[in-house]
Formats: sequence, structure tokens, C-alpha cells
Amino acid sequence: MTVEQSIAGIRRALAESPRPVGFVPTMGALHAGHARLIEVARDQSQTVVVSIFVNPLQFDQAADYEQYQRSLDTDAALAENNGAHLVFAPTAAEIYPGPAKTFVEVPGLTGHFCGASRPGHFRGVATIVAKLFHIVQPDLALFGEKDAQQLAVIHAMVRDLNFPITVVPVPTVREPDGLALSSRNSRLRPAERRIAVRLYQALARAQQLIGAGERDARKIRQEAGALLLQPAIAVDYFDLANPKTMLPASDATPPVLIMGAIRIGQTRLIDNVLCQA
Ligand code: PAF
Repeated sequence: MTVEQSIAGIRRALAESPRPVGFVPTMGALHAGHARLIEVARDQSQTVVVSIFVNPLQFDQAADYEQYQRSLDTDAALAENNGAHLVFAPTAAEIYPGPAKTFVEVPGLTGHFCGASRPGHFRGVATIVAKLFHIVQPDLALFGEKDAQQLAVIHAMVRDLNFPITVVPVPTVREPDGLALSSRNSRLRPAERRIAVRLYQALARAQQLIGAGERDARKIRQEAGALLLQPAIAVDYFDLANPKTMLPASDATPPVLIMGAIRIGQTRLIDNVLCQA
């Protein structure tokens, strides 16, 4: 496996690599959830590229950007062990050589949920993913379903801007107790980790209520959301959404997405479950 830091280098390496090319964009701090993305990419392509780039444009708080774990050597080893052929790990100066004047926005899908609580976040995500797509020119790109709103944004961007790329959603990987794997979990102290599972429990309770026929989103929010009423948890949102429009849903008729974002101490966690029709 080769690690390339320059745009010219990754383009040269890709010119000599067999297609289809599967692409897994990441911000590093790789875990078993990323390993799953790489494995799925490996199953569906001849060349697997993993990008590792902590994108300053998508952080709404400078401290969060500074504190984001950077661990290139262990990340590259995980990527290689799971079947990646190329790692693209550029510096911020390589990607943003000067102040950018061009951005990609998907306003139709970002007015609520993480889009509302993290202004500019999805503009940063869409812009870097578009840039990486132009650099890597993959045939398929893999994204985790844990970031449901991000996935909806990428789907829309690919369709609206005619990227010849198939977006492949990959189911969320969870700890045995249900906590969704996330690079941010490593920041949780033991007591915080114990309480973090409440987010999944609340989502699962909502799913159970919908499965039993409840359709009133307000009642579902109230009953399932009660699991988050803990002094250690600050709820950003816990709501039902239309999975296509990413608008809040008042009627829980499937397909409906149950989405939550909470803060425990310094750590922000998000998760969701989809109730299928
Ligand atoms: O999901 C992530 O890790 C990031 O948002 C992404 C897609 C790599 C863009 O920086």
C-alpha cells in the first residue's frame, strides 16, 4: 500500500491502478466502522483509495478542529490491513493553498438537525467531498449511514452536479451495547461512555413504538426522548425526519428516520435509525 500526500502523486498512482476505483473519504482516527467501509469497497472495486484529511472547513469550532485526533501511522496500518491500496493524506495547504472562493452548498437538505446546530458544517463537507471526488475520480464512494444527513447531502450533490459516481451507503457498526462507532467515542471518560448508550436506547425505543403502530411524532419524541433526560446529557435534537427531504416529520409513518444528537461533557455524538416501510 502507498501513502500519497500530494494531489499530483495520488493522480499518478491512480492513473496506473485498475478500475473500478472505490473511495472511502475519512478524517482519520480510523476504527472498525471505517474498516467495514474499506471492506465493502474492496468487495466492489479493484482499487481502494482511503483519504485521511481533517477538513478545517467543516468544523464550526476551532477547538474541535485542533483537538481532532491525528494518527496517520496507525490509520495507514488499519487501512492496509483491511485491503486499501492507496492512502491519500494531504496537508491542509495542499488542499486549500489559499483562501477558497468557491464552495458547494446543499441548502435544501441542511436547514434542520446538524445543519441547524452546526452552521457551515455541511458546506464544508460538500466542498471537501466535491474536491476529493475531482482529485480521486472514483467509480464508487462509500459513506456510513451513521451520518444520515451527510449521506443525503452527498447523494443530492452527486445527482445535482452529475458526478459519475455511485454512492454506496454502509450500515452503522455498533458496540455490543448498541453505541454507534465514532472517532469521538475515544474522548468519552468511562462514566460518560456508560451513559452514551442512552442515545441508541432512545432511538431503539422510538423504533419499537413505531413498530407497534404509534404514528404521533410528538408522543414518540416524548416517550423515547425521556431516556435522554439525564443530568450528564445535553440534547441537541431528538426527532423524526423524512429520510428524503431531511425535514422534521410530524407523522411517523415509515419510511421515517429517527435522529438524535447529544453532548456529553465535551463530546458531541450523533446517531439514527431508519424505520422502513
Ligand atoms: O464523515 C467524515 O468523516 C467527513 O465528514 C468526510 C466525509 C470525510 C468529509 O470530510
